[in-house]
Amino acid sequence: MHPDLAALLICPECKGGFAFDAVATCGSCARSYPVADGIVSMTRADAYTALDEIDYDAVYRLSSDASHAFVRSCLSMLGDRMPSTIDTFLEIGAGTGQFTLGFLKQVPTRTAVVTDISSSMLGACRRRLVENGVPSAGVHFVTWDGADCLRRDAFQLIAGFSVLHHVLDFQTMLATLAGAMRQNGIAVFLEPNYRFHLALIDTVCEIFVATQDDPCWSAEDRLALSDWLFENNTNLRFRGDAEVLAGREDKHLFDGDQLAHAASAAGFGSVELVPFGGRSECYVALEVYSNQIGLRDEARADLLDRFSRLLPGNFGHLADEDLAPSTLIVLRRDGNGNRRRSANQVPIRGGAAPRFAYDIVITTGHDSEGEWTLTAQGWVLGDTDVRYLAISLDGAAYRFPVQAIRPDVNNAFNARRVHPLRRSLFCGVAGATPRRLTWTGGRAAGLLAVAADGREFLLAQVELPQQPGIVTTTRVEAT
Ligand SMILES: C[S@@+](CC[C@H](N)C(=O)[O-])C[C@H]1O[C@@H](n2cnc3c(N)ncnc32)[C@H](O)[C@@H]1O
Ligand SMILES: [Zn+2]
Repeated sequence: MHPDLAALLICPECKGGFAFDAVATCGSCARSYPVADGIVSMTRADAYTALDEIDYDAVYRLSSDASHAFVRSCLSMLGDRMPSTIDTFLEIGAGTGQFTLGFLKQVPTRTAVVTDISSSMLGACRRRLVENGVPSAGVHFVTWDGADCLRRDAFQLIAGFSVLHHVLDFQTMLATLAGAMRQNGIAVFLEPNYRFHLALIDTVCEIFVATQDDPCWSAEDRLALSDWLFENNTNLRFRGDAEVLAGREDKHLFDGDQLAHAASAAGFGSVELVPFGGRSECYVALEVYSNQIGLRDEARADLLDRFSRLLPGNFGHLADEDLAPSTLIVLRRDGNGNRRRSANQVPIRGGAAPRFAYDIVITTGHDSEGEWTLTAQGWVLGDTDVRYLAISLDGAAYRFPVQAIRPDVNNAFNARRVHPLRRSLFCGVAGATPRRLTWTGGRAAGLLAVAADGREFLLAQVELPQQPGIVTTTRVEAT
């Protein structure tokens, strides 16, 4: 291992130092770590990112010009928080090098350790640096997704752009990074902003409902938009719910308070939140997203036009720090930074017991090992925010997230105004994997709606068949 890299890493197993010149062999326990194509591997064999399956640069329209412009914006927003030269730099989740390239070109850096969970991302990043004339001598590539292999007090600058929300246990990762940062160092992360996205997605939901009979929208356009809303809505309303989010690529959507708590629990003494962009960012943000939704030009133009007419709308309720789609988070180990708090309050609705309507198909069957399974499909609407449909059986509860758009239901109920539909656009249970039952033979199951605040409401009692089969339970008139 190159001496400059060996000075910054330790063996994750025994915490010893790496031998110089040996490939990547621990000088204490002699354990060897794989090196392929010059990239040292510190990830487990099953490390995975779904982003490897897309053409990342094409989807996110990355280029060297875009990279330079992105870093210029970051540096101007960071101002004198960013030192003018860097001795040791660690980047996590570098991907194909959007930040890496612009940064190494613009800020003199002695040693850079560029990491990502994916070796193919790092390969693309290295090609980008070489093609743009970044000298390779001081740049080292390591696959990393949180391993305890960083030397304490080693890095002057740690950066991670749009990566923390991909990491299920970001709390432990932050603590590892806090330990690896020099006492007077600085860590910078960029993360999508929760409240901004809530306002954005709520606005696009209104547009989705309004485009129902609009001839500029084809059925495919509406399906594309509903898929996009489904993805974003899941990240928003199942925030913090590991059961739903663990298997997804995006695992978190942070708000400032959550990040401040996490950083302080990780051992950082100061947290600053810097909105990434100005007040006109709402429109720009949707413009960028609209390229990724897959709409025809006509529908895309209509989406943007309707959006601009709804502004400021939901965005008018946001605090200044939430008025940009993402936030730069600047962390230090000492406690001298200042922290601006958000004054946002979520209104709580009191009052009458909620009413529900639903149409649920429960299917029972056997899995490949002959065990009983159960799955649910359909929709449930309530005038409270229904998060899960649950089936209780023999003392166990099987939960299914309510997260899909059901345009058929939306059309019917919206026209008749049976329910306030703002919360209920996402009323469908879709593609739920069958749950294995610990079935002791009871047949009486309860069908429940679980609200966002955890309250449970019994919708119906259902008799399950003794043979594999289906049971449909429907109530269309709300009571
Ligand atoms: C949205 S991309 C951002 C890439 C790059 N920083 C940029 O700004 O273009 C997220 C990156 O995080 C990486 N990643 C995903 N999960 C990770 C994990 N658990 N640990 C480290 N990196 C991870 C992905 O491979 C991907 O390159
Ligand atoms: Zn060792």
